[in-house]
Amino acid sequence: MKYLTALVSLTTVLAVPANAVAVWGQCGGIGWTGSTVCDAGSTCTVSNSYYSQCLPSTATTSVSPTSVSTGAPSGSSSTASAPAPSGTGLDAHFKAKGKLYWGTCADEARFSNAQDSAVTIAQFGQLTPENSMKWDATENTRGVFTFTGADELVAYAQQNNMLVRAHTLVWHSQLPSWVSAITDKATLTSVIQNHIANVAGRYKGKVRSWDVCNEIFNDDGTFRTSVFYNVLGTSFVQIAFEAARAADPTAKLYINDYNLDSANAKLQAVVNLVKSSNSGGTQLIDGIGTQMHLSAGGAGGAQAALQLAATAGVEVAITELDIANAAASDYVAVVKACLAVPACIGITSWGVRDPDSWRASSVPLLFDANFNPKPAYTAVIQALS
Ligand code: G3I
Repeated sequence: MKYLTALVSLTTVLAVPANAVAVWGQCGGIGWTGSTVCDAGSTCTVSNSYYSQCLPSTATTSVSPTSVSTGAPSGSSSTASAPAPSGTGLDAHFKAKGKLYWGTCADEARFSNAQDSAVTIAQFGQLTPENSMKWDATENTRGVFTFTGADELVAYAQQNNMLVRAHTLVWHSQLPSWVSAITDKATLTSVIQNHIANVAGRYKGKVRSWDVCNEIFNDDGTFRTSVFYNVLGTSFVQIAFEAARAADPTAKLYINDYNLDSANAKLQAVVNLVKSSNSGGTQLIDGIGTQMHLSAGGAGGAQAALQLAATAGVEVAITELDIANAAASDYVAVVKACLAVPACIGITSWGVRDPDSWRASSVPLLFDANFNPKPAYTAVIQALS
């Protein structure tokens, strides 16, 4: 018996190569050059043509979106005529159209609310930490790291089979004053590298992507004035992306910004930076994130913008979608824009219900204060059916 047990263990060890991908890691997809073999206990599963992931072979703790009814619009005519996707929510409908996810931002204060959690699980397949992975939340004092909120977010996402878009490593805002006070290159370089090694390193293999640099351009396409640019010039971009690659080699590394909502100078600057950064034979930047905090009626340039972003040769994601007044026509225009551009892999709503939005007074989200779906939600589901 002992011999048999030993033989079984040995067989298991031999069956999994040393370079096998850990559970939740990427194991395939367009452009993927890493291992396609998963660790024991997980299976390489195609999400879409851009992404395959090692998922637990027996997901005992996961909650299937299809098993949760809260959050789907009761009596919605949209689902009646739809070619039924495998779930009822936004994520399932978007996946049925070949996209990777529809997600939302969250943090523990949100998903510890049972109603919020039920809607989040029913509707969304991806989470972005709204605040818990930012510099002030993770390293408010130099060298002292706090991961309470970020750990909770990642655990919640894993329990519910959601991808994580991690956000964000280098940003001029929510930046502790001890970082802003640095004036010499060597110190700032090592501070950036240490921050990224610790924060991105902690979630190695557990997140799908990182917003490595956030909001580094002005609207005219010049670099924003920040401690990073002031001290290091444009070299902070390479320093940050190289540190992120080293910390989590399988995460897709993004540059993320706002006001990329038409084919404008700022978006062209982002595209130029991605192209020049990736031109040396080694890909530094894997994706462009367009936040899309839109004003009412502001979705008209979305498709042209996504098409311009795609010319950089990397994937594109709508990362923080909210639209003042949440008109159905605006939301549908954004959805159709993403559907029309193959490089657009997913949409993240910047929150679930209006009162929790950073711009609550403009009621920009898809669910109202009582977590009821708004007309824009129904229109989106119809557009995806
Ligand atoms: O955590 C403190 C709490 O201890 C304190 O009591 C309270 C008092 O105001 O503040 C809390 O911090 C707030 C934090 O959210 C967490 O709730 C900050 O004041 C508040 O400024 C912060 O706002 C966040 C904002 O980024 C900060 O710039 C929003 O929630 C968040 O939605 C927003 O997200 C950004 C993206 O990261 C980048 N793109 C733009 C987007 C919208 O501004």
